[in-house]
Amino acid sequence: MSPKPIRKAVFPVAGLGTRFLPATKAVPKEMLPVVDRPLIQYAVDEAREAGIEQMIFVTGRGKSAIEDHFDIAFELEKTMSERGKDLSVLGPTRLGPGNCAYVRQQEPLGLGHAIWCARAIVGDEPFAIFLPDELMVAREGGTGCMKQMVDAYSEVGGNLISVLEVPMAQVSSYGVIAPGAQDGALTEVTGLVEKPPVAEAPSNKILSGRYILQPEVMRVLERQGKGAGGEIQLTDAMAQMIGQQPFHAVTFDGARYDCGSKTGFVEATLAIALSRPDMGDAVRAIALDLLK
Ligand code: G1P
Repeated sequence: MSPKPIRKAVFPVAGLGTRFLPATKAVPKEMLPVVDRPLIQYAVDEAREAGIEQMIFVTGRGKSAIEDHFDIAFELEKTMSERGKDLSVLGPTRLGPGNCAYVRQQEPLGLGHAIWCARAIVGDEPFAIFLPDELMVAREGGTGCMKQMVDAYSEVGGNLISVLEVPMAQVSSYGVIAPGAQDGALTEVTGLVEKPPVAEAPSNKILSGRYILQPEVMRVLERQGKGAGGEIQLTDAMAQMIGQQPFHAVTFDGARYDCGSKTGFVEATLAIALSRPDMGDAVRAIALDLLK
């Protein structure tokens, strides 16, 4: 029997974005543009490519720009049409009422708590999670990270997380897996630990912000105490599901940019600008000139 399809995705977007102040004083971090698309749009497009129809945003105060972004911009669209402007520049930014939902995380208690806030909308079915800070870009002609995960899920079912290898010195900033048997891009997960000291890290394979989880994780989160950084950690809840349900890691075949850091954000901006047919050559010339 094939596993239940993944129809819903949760986007935790309640974070304060303090690392990007003052830019994020009045603008949600997820709305900062990488070239001309806000960060959150890349994640939503990746979800759509994977066949996901319902987007659930876990927001907080000051995040209404995200709701506006995925709404109809009536005045803008009307004025553009009247002036004969091309509306296709807006791209697929509209999410209809049946395709999006917003819930608020009222207190900053951690990623695990943010996901738990979406439990009533997720209901009793497997779902995806996207951390929009992690920008995952498909290879030319390839598929996105979540599509690769959904394809793997249709084979193995259960729970899947995306992973990638980083230098050992960086593991303490991330969730880390204890790897079991490996089969191509798929690795069995035998343990999970959030932000371990380097000496205690079970590997250098880190969680890179994409998850497919079974709904039982919500019941685990309900009872989950505080973990690393005094926050309710999703990683700790997932760790408890290992052994109860299948748990695999998928190594994404593509590029990943950590837009949670300023240098990662600049790297993503440069890489995407360079790869764009409408500006790649011009940006390359500018970059080479600046490096002279
Ligand atoms: C979160 C997760 C962590 C994961 C990381 C990816 O951490 O808790 O397991 O590796 O995202 O970016 P955060 O960046 O919110 O501290």
